[in-house]
Amino acid sequence: MHSHFICMDKTIKITYNDKSFDFDLLKGSENELGINIKDLRSKTGLITLDPGYKNSGSCISDITFLDGEKGILKYRGYSIEDLANKADFLEVAYLLIFGELPSKIQLEKLKNNINEESIVDEDLKVILKSFPKSAHPMGVLASLTSALTAFNPSAVDINSEENMFEAIVMLLGKFPILTSWAQRKVKGLPLIYSDISLPYIDNISQLMFKRPNQKYEPNPVVTNALNKLLILHADHEQNCSTSTVRIVGSSHAGLFASVSAGISALWGRLHGGANQAVIEMLESIRSDGGDTKKFMKKAKDKNDPFRLMGFGHRVYKNFDPRAKILKVSADEVLKELGVTDPVLEIAKELETEALNDKYFIDRKLYPNVDFYSGIIYRALGIPTEMFTVMFALGRLPGWIAQWREMRLNNEPIGRPRQIYTGPTDRVFTPLDLR
Ligand code: CMC
Repeated sequence: MHSHFICMDKTIKITYNDKSFDFDLLKGSENELGINIKDLRSKTGLITLDPGYKNSGSCISDITFLDGEKGILKYRGYSIEDLANKADFLEVAYLLIFGELPSKIQLEKLKNNINEESIVDEDLKVILKSFPKSAHPMGVLASLTSALTAFNPSAVDINSEENMFEAIVMLLGKFPILTSWAQRKVKGLPLIYSDISLPYIDNISQLMFKRPNQKYEPNPVVTNALNKLLILHADHEQNCSTSTVRIVGSSHAGLFASVSAGISALWGRLHGGANQAVIEMLESIRSDGGDTKKFMKKAKDKNDPFRLMGFGHRVYKNFDPRAKILKVSADEVLKELGVTDPVLEIAKELETEALNDKYFIDRKLYPNVDFYSGIIYRALGIPTEMFTVMFALGRLPGWIAQWREMRLNNEPIGRPRQIYTGPTDRVFTPLDLR
């Protein structure tokens, strides 16, 4: 693995206690600049404080580039627009994980390897059975993914690229089955296995939608929309869940345990859980009488915790390029499937109002990927509580790619520092005197 950065001939000077220290200025391949503070503490005794890591790079990476100001997203140098419109999800997965677009032979080999692994131990059903029907599928998915470790202990100790490949293929094969089971349990549908005669995306559809009394026929509108959605979600550099996967993996916990932790991080409403929160918000606006202006006002009121779900992004401060692609796709899907839905009308109203509102314009709050993905998932008939699971299905290759890069680069264990602000020396009082 070769992660490249250029060490600039400039340095950054930090003066502290009348002493001056030089730190290298680094430049990435897309001209991003950063100060290398690797030796800051050993040289100066100081640490930096950056809650939420708004200014801190945790690694160097060859996988994904995004420019939040210009609204650019690229995987391994290929624009997201090209990939979403021209590529197949599995090609993109290969590209993210291994660095190059696959040849026909390489893709075929990957598909065959995944097919071999498209099966899980029947005993996983016992674990699934013990969850209540009301369990959120993200919690179920995190547990089942973690349980894969117990059923495949050989995939834990990764000592060679061969071990690594085996674990990766296992996860790509087994994960769609787990995601479908998490949903089918809630719906009371039989737990089925992959159909390896189908392409990867159509197999995902049959795992989700196939009913026991029907022959499953893939619908090209659903296939296209899912392919695009999964590609657009496939990676997003060092976001909350990906950083989680890297940090858990940095302790050399296995791939499945690391991804399970990533699923938990993705679940939250401020991250992947926003797609579910968008539809729930639209539904509550509808049941409240459909007055979008009232909710716009609430979103702007600093004394009200309500936020407009599906708006704003930590890094995109202009527009979210994924949202731009999905907006077109959402219109196509609604038209092709002939869906009319009052909740989606509310979405359109809210979008127009927010795009023309000073508060949202000033803070650069635009509809994000979750705003439109929620709308498409709903039109495809996917239950609301499954939306974040769909995000996880798409993000899987990104998590794997980032975990693989971290291991191949031999990154040190992730272990941030802190500034302690608690009490200093205190005298212990025995329990009976307190
Ligand atoms: N509705 C109303 N006000 C908002 C919103 C919103 N959705 N998002 C940000 N603001 C305001 C915020 O109150 C603050 O205002 P002020 O400067 O007056 O205090 C300002 O905009 C900056 O917000 P922030 O919270 O400092 O920004 P952040 O970068 O920490 O948070 C965010 C980014 C995505 C968590 C946030 O915009 C948000 O909560 N959005 C709604 C949830 C959502 O849609 N999440 C999906 C993100 S995209 C998919 C993913 O990557 O997971």
